[in-house]
Amino acid sequence: MPMVPLRTLLDAAEKGNYAVGAFNCNNMEIVQAIVEAADELRSPVIIQASQGAIKYAGLHYVVGLAKLAAEATTVPVALHLDHGTDYNTVIACIRAGFTSVMFDGSQWPKEENIARTKEIVKVARAVGVSVEGEIGKIGGVEDDISVDERDAMLTPVPDAIEFYEATGVDALAMSFGTAHGHYKLPPKLAIDRIDEVHRRTGAYLVMHGGSGVPEEDVRKGIAAGIRKVNIDTELREAFLGEVRRQLNGKPSEIDPRKILGPAKSVLKGKLKEKMELFGCAGKA
Ligand code: G3H
Ligand code: 13P
Ligand code: ZN
Repeated sequence: MPMVPLRTLLDAAEKGNYAVGAFNCNNMEIVQAIVEAADELRSPVIIQASQGAIKYAGLHYVVGLAKLAAEATTVPVALHLDHGTDYNTVIACIRAGFTSVMFDGSQWPKEENIARTKEIVKVARAVGVSVEGEIGKIGGVEDDISVDERDAMLTPVPDAIEFYEATGVDALAMSFGTAHGHYKLPPKLAIDRIDEVHRRTGAYLVMHGGSGVPEEDVRKGIAAGIRKVNIDTELREAFLGEVRRQLNGKPSEIDPRKILGPAKSVLKGKLKEKMELFGCAGKA
């Protein structure tokens, strides 16, 4: 079926108390794996592409691949821009057919982030495209900071509420203890902050840096109001891990299909595991 706005998926997730998986793609096999896994589990799904993925694959290829994959299934699929920091890229994605965009204004002070995010919401809403905004900075595990420094980076609840109410975003990313990439130590999540923002505003919260978060914490986050969970690192590891295994086992293989086919199957297995964990399997 035609792609749907993120808002449609998250409204249903809120009613059903689950989260929808948002999975990063970079090429055709990854897009196919995401939608085939969703189709087989009857799960709503979010395909997301970063600015880097768009630069690598090409904007119109990303939209074309996602559209074809979505039209081949009856489960609802949204196409979302992940961490859009550049106004022109966000607008280009909206024009090209994305059904949702993240505007990540976390590099600017709060007031400027609010003003820039509002501008995107105004444009996107006029054409039925959803918007995710970010308040506070979600770092990378590679960022060399202490636990105390990381705690100091958590988004204060009043900032999150002010940002949500001022911008009217459809989904809200805030810093509550997760980070992008591979965790050296298990993260400590401020579930109380997720819960308070969700209870006081009804905002649909997004868990960035979902790879490597212990399953129990993912479940607690969802119970507190997480409605979208972003996964990239674990997908990269699953896909390329199998590419490596295949290449090592068949050093003279020259048919890309014999390497990428098994890698896509392993990736589908990882995606299904996440859809079951998030509670979105069986919800489409
Ligand atoms: O949060 C970032 C995502 O993992 C995308 O990473 O910018 O390398 O495509 P990328
Ligand atoms: P991970 O790579 O840690 O899974 O984070 C993904 C993400 O948050 C994309 O926005
Ligand atoms: Zn992220």
